[in-house]
Amino acid sequence: MADRYLEDLLTPNVLAAQEQFFGQSQSRPEASERDALTEEAQAFIAARDSFYIATISESGWPYVQHRGGARGFLRVVSPTELAFADYKGNRQLLTRGNLVANQRVSLFLMDYARRERLKILGIARTESARDNPELAGRISEPESRKVVERIFTIEVVSFDWNCPKYITPRYSRAEVDEVIVPLRARIAELEARLAENA
Ligand SMILES: Cc1cc2nc3c(=O)[nH]c(=O)nc-3n(C[C@H](O)[C@H](O)[C@H](O)COP(=O)(O)O)c2cc1C
Repeated sequence: MADRYLEDLLTPNVLAAQEQFFGQSQSRPEASERDALTEEAQAFIAARDSFYIATISESGWPYVQHRGGARGFLRVVSPTELAFADYKGNRQLLTRGNLVANQRVSLFLMDYARRERLKILGIARTESARDNPELAGRISEPESRKVVERIFTIEVVSFDWNCPKYITPRYSRAEVDEVIVPLRARIAELEARLAENA
């Protein structure tokens, strides 16, 4: 699974740095095929409520943006394609603009609660939601009344998981609620029983 990822990222300078500091370098796998997302990776993506996306600007600077939405807003269209909506009101269009010269993107998805992270390399394209209303409808968040202005689709090239070390567990409000809602109900039930017996 990480073969294509490593093939793309173990560049000569990276291998030279490994040689310099460790006296040896990793072997660079030859994996010309793209890596389709496994079921595990697809489920991980479908459970996320945010991700980071890096693009490369014409000035040569890497640019990273955070994207957030309802759980699963980064849609798994197929094992080799992801999509998400960009809503009317985005005044910066930095990611959109960067994709004109270079379609390569790097996605970074975190599950802080379970201390897991997934990295994805892909080729991203944007199109107007008006040109593809069917996909725009599929990827918009049903409970959101925001207008989808454009669609980002990402052809997955490869992906890799990172080790959990140094990820501090953190919990979103929804994750905390999953735990405390039943506890609150139980407290209310016990308080009611106490009140009956008082
Ligand atoms: C009406 C409106 C809705 C937005 N909805 C979202 C959203 O659902 N998720 C998100 O990450 N950013 C949302 N944003 C933030 C913008 O899209 C933000 O400008 C965009 O992430 C900037 O991306 P860029 O840095 O690639 O240009 C919204 C902004 C506006 C004005």
